[in-house]
Amino acid sequence: MCGIVGYVGNKQALTVVVDGLRRLEYRGYDSAGVAVVQDHKLEVRKKAGKLVNLETLLGTDPLPNSTTGIGHTRWATHGIPNDANAHPHTDVSNEIAVIHNGIIENFSELRAELQLAGVKLSSDTDTEVVAHLLNFEYPKSNNDLAESMRKVVRRLRGAFTLVAVHAQQPDVVVGARRNSPLVVGRGVGENFLASDVSAFISHTKNAIELGQDQVVELRHDKITITDFDGKPAVTKEYVVDWDAKAAEKGGFDLFMLKEIFEQPKAVAETLVGRLGEDGKLILEEMTLSIGQIANIEKIVFVACGTAFHSGMIGKYAMERWTRIPCEVELASEFRYRDPILNNRTLVVAISQSGETMDTLMAIRHAKSQGAKVLAICNTQGATIPRESDAVLYTRGGPEIAVASTKAFLTQVVAVELLSLYFAELRLDKPTAEIKQVMNELANISHQIDVVLDTTDAVNELAKKYVNAQSVLFIGRHVGFPVALEGALKLKELAYMHAEGFAAGELKHGPIALIEDGIPVVVIVPSLREEKELHEKVVSNIQEVRARGAKTILIVEEGDDSILDFADHIIRIPQTSSLLQPLVATVPLQVFSCALATLKGHDVDQPRNLAKSVTVE
Ligand code: M6R
Repeated sequence: MCGIVGYVGNKQALTVVVDGLRRLEYRGYDSAGVAVVQDHKLEVRKKAGKLVNLETLLGTDPLPNSTTGIGHTRWATHGIPNDANAHPHTDVSNEIAVIHNGIIENFSELRAELQLAGVKLSSDTDTEVVAHLLNFEYPKSNNDLAESMRKVVRRLRGAFTLVAVHAQQPDVVVGARRNSPLVVGRGVGENFLASDVSAFISHTKNAIELGQDQVVELRHDKITITDFDGKPAVTKEYVVDWDAKAAEKGGFDLFMLKEIFEQPKAVAETLVGRLGEDGKLILEEMTLSIGQIANIEKIVFVACGTAFHSGMIGKYAMERWTRIPCEVELASEFRYRDPILNNRTLVVAISQSGETMDTLMAIRHAKSQGAKVLAICNTQGATIPRESDAVLYTRGGPEIAVASTKAFLTQVVAVELLSLYFAELRLDKPTAEIKQVMNELANISHQIDVVLDTTDAVNELAKKYVNAQSVLFIGRHVGFPVALEGALKLKELAYMHAEGFAAGELKHGPIALIEDGIPVVVIVPSLREEKELHEKVVSNIQEVRARGAKTILIVEEGDDSILDFADHIIRIPQTSSLLQPLVATVPLQVFSCALATLKGHDVDQPRNLAKSVTVE
C-alpha cells in the first residue's frame, strides 16, 4: 500500500523519483505527488488519480532542477483520493514535506492537539499531523530533521514508513520505519530510499534492509541509521539478485500476461537445486533443525488472498504426505480468535510481498505464544521472513501486476516441497506417491508450458462470456482452492460476480444461484488418480447442467468420460492429483485477464486494490 521514493545525489531528483514511482505504482494509484528542495525552498506538486495525471501537471507547472526529492503513490486509507489528500503533506511554514505509508492510529488525538495549538490542517489524512509535529520539533532539535523525526515517531502509534525533506537541509532526506517496508539503496555519490528495490534497481543493486523502529538520514555520500532513540542501528546490506529488466513488460502489453507466461521459469527457479539427484530434497535455507521438525505436532498455514489458497493446498499436501494435522487460516482472523498454539506448533506464513500486515501480525502473535514460524516468501529481506525462524524463498522474481499469478504457482511448489521435505524426515521410507511426485516435479515447468498453449482458445471462450452476470467455479479436494483462486482473479480483474465453491457444497445452498446460461467452471479431478472424486464431480456437473448452466470443464488429457457433459473443454496435462493446481490454475488466470481486457479494465492495476497490503 503506497509507494515511496526518496533521492539525494547528483542527478535530477525529479527524473529519478518519477521513474521510481512508475515502478512502484502497483502499490497504489489513488494519487501521486513529489517534493523537491532547491535554494532552500520546498516545491510540491501532487494530483489525484494515476501517476500520469501528476506527469501532466508537471508538464504545465514544472518543478525547478534539484538533486534532492521525494515522491509518493497513494492507496487511500484516511481521506478520499483527491488532490488535497494526496502526499506529500506540508507543514504551516511550507518548509517540510512528508510522505507516508501505513496508518497512524493515534492521529485523531494528535490532530486535536495541533488544532488546539492553532494549526489549520488542510487534509483529512493521518499523515499531515507528522509534517506539523516535525515543524514543532525542528527548532528544539538543533534544526536537525533526523533528530526531529526520532522525536516525532516516538509519539506515533500504528504502522508507518515516513520520509521527509526540509527546505533548510537541502541535501538530506530522512526516513523512519515501523511495520511498513522501507529499503535503502546505496549508490555512488547518490543514495535512495524506497518501499521496494524495484524503484532504484536501475541505479544500484546494493540495498540495506531497514529494521523495525529505525530512522535513516540519507545524504549523497553518507547513510546514517539509528534506532528511534538515536543509538546506531545494526543493519544488513545485500545485493539484489535480479535486474531492472525483470520489472519491465518484456514485449507483453500487460505485466499480468508477462507474469502468466513467466510461470514455467518461475516454477523451475523455485525448484532449482532443491531436488537432489538421489531423490532427496535439499532446502538449504531450512534453519529448523531435524529435532524441531520431529517435534511438530500441528501446522497452521496463515496467509491472505491468493496466498491463502496456496496454504489450502499446503494443508492437503502436508496431511497426505506427513500425517501431521494441519489447519489453514486467514491471517486477518488468526490472532483475534486466540488460537491454540504452543512450542510444538509450526506456523507457516505465506506471502509474496513479505509485508502483508495481517500476516505479519499473525506471525508476531504466533511467536508470542511459543510457536515456531516458517515463512514462504518471494521478497528477499522483507519483514515477514526477517521475523520468522526459518524461510523458504519462492524465486518468482518481481511480480508487478496486482493480481497474483506466478506468486501463486511458486507458493504451491514451495508448500509441496516443504511437505515432501517433512515427509522425508519423518517417514521411514517414502511412499510410492511421494516418489512419483518428486519425479513429476522435475518436469512440471514443461507441463505449465504446455497448458499455456491453450491461451488462444481461452481468449476465444472469454469473448462468449463477456456479458455474463456471474461466473461460478467449483472443484473438489485441491480443485477447491483452484476454484477459489479462479473466482478471486475474476472478481479483482473483471469486476464480475464470481464465486468458488467446494463442488460437494453446491447442493447445500449455492445451487440456487444456477439459472439458464450461467457459466460454471469445473476443475475436474484426474480420472486415473482420483476415480471416486471424479465420479462425484461428474454428478455435480450433471446437477448444474440440469438447471441450465453452461459448463466449462478443466480436464486432464485423455479423460473423454466427460465429453457429453461439457459445453467447453480446456485440456490440461496429466499430473499427480496434488500437482494439478499447477496446471489447472493457468487457464483461469488467462480467462480473467482476457475478460478484463475485453471489458476495457486496467488489468495490471485494478480499481481499489494495491499489491502489497501493509495496513490491517
Ligand atoms: O503479498 P501477499 O502474498 O501476502 O499478498 C496477499 C494478498 O493480498 C494477495 O495474494 C492478493 O489476494 C492478490 N491481489 C490476489 O491476486
